[in-house]
Amino acid sequence: MMRIRVLGSSAGGGFPQWNCNCPNCDGLRRGTVMARARTQSSIAVSANDLDWLLVNASPDILTQIRDTPELQPARSVRDSGIAAVLLMDAQIDHVTGLLMLRERASALPLLATPEVLTELGKGFPITGILSHYCGVAPHALPTDGRSFTAPGLDGIGLQAVPLSSRPPPYSPFRGNPRPGDNIGLVLQNPSNGARVFYAPGLGEVTPELLDLMSSCAVVLVDGTFWTGDEMQRLGLSTKAAADMGHLPQSGPGGMLEQLARLPVATRKLLIHINNTNPILIEDSAERAALTRLGIEVAHDGMDIHF
Ligand code: MLT
Ligand code: MN
Ligand code: ZN
Repeated sequence: MMRIRVLGSSAGGGFPQWNCNCPNCDGLRRGTVMARARTQSSIAVSANDLDWLLVNASPDILTQIRDTPELQPARSVRDSGIAAVLLMDAQIDHVTGLLMLRERASALPLLATPEVLTELGKGFPITGILSHYCGVAPHALPTDGRSFTAPGLDGIGLQAVPLSSRPPPYSPFRGNPRPGDNIGLVLQNPSNGARVFYAPGLGEVTPELLDLMSSCAVVLVDGTFWTGDEMQRLGLSTKAAADMGHLPQSGPGGMLEQLARLPVATRKLLIHINNTNPILIEDSAERAALTRLGIEVAHDGMDIHF
């Protein structure tokens, strides 16, 4: 059995966000809404419940590790079950936690596309900074469909899928995304063939991607926004979901329509949920709409077996 532990199910900022008084964040603080707090976007994957591949390194990583005793096997005086880190993109909410892993005794295996590794050497020079601590051992991921393996998941075939989304605001390529700026990840359990598709940042579901998602037992995809102008309507940002590389759930061509095209047997979950999204409120009409469609909302601490 393979296992995914959702460490953080929120988009950048977390839920509640430190400076946000939107109805969701304010309601959660006051205890007037039915919702769970959530930390920023990350999952951990294991095939043996001992060694883990961390997928994205959230700014909340230390809290997430404390909340997940399974990540600490305590085999020696300094130890961690986290064998390597794989990145979906170079966004702040997915990479900042790398700095918190600097006490490692050996270089941290870091799997990412050449585009992401370059951002982390230049625009947000985390790998340069870490070279003065544990250092990183970079592994450039193939984005041509070839499968690869990762430390911590020996013998498990992984595949990186270039996605249409956006590199971070600090990237010189923010306005001109390249195929390796954002990837999705396909994980396959070698014993039963079951596949999972993970994509916390997804701007467009192409026909090819829909085919790939249809071949998966589980899809765990971008749940950032319910509507394309959610942040604008609340007066929180001038940016639309599309400007940030996120496909909203509602509306024509939205994520709900895309997920409805998948086989009924495919387990469908949303992750990387922004604090403004009404699906966070467990008794909202929007959450009820998801439930009717058989779509789940990931939460921190959730286990997904496949
Ligand atoms: C995103 O997913 O669009 C980014 O993580 C936003 C951010 O930097 O907080
Ligand atoms: Mn994000
Ligand atoms: Zn908020």
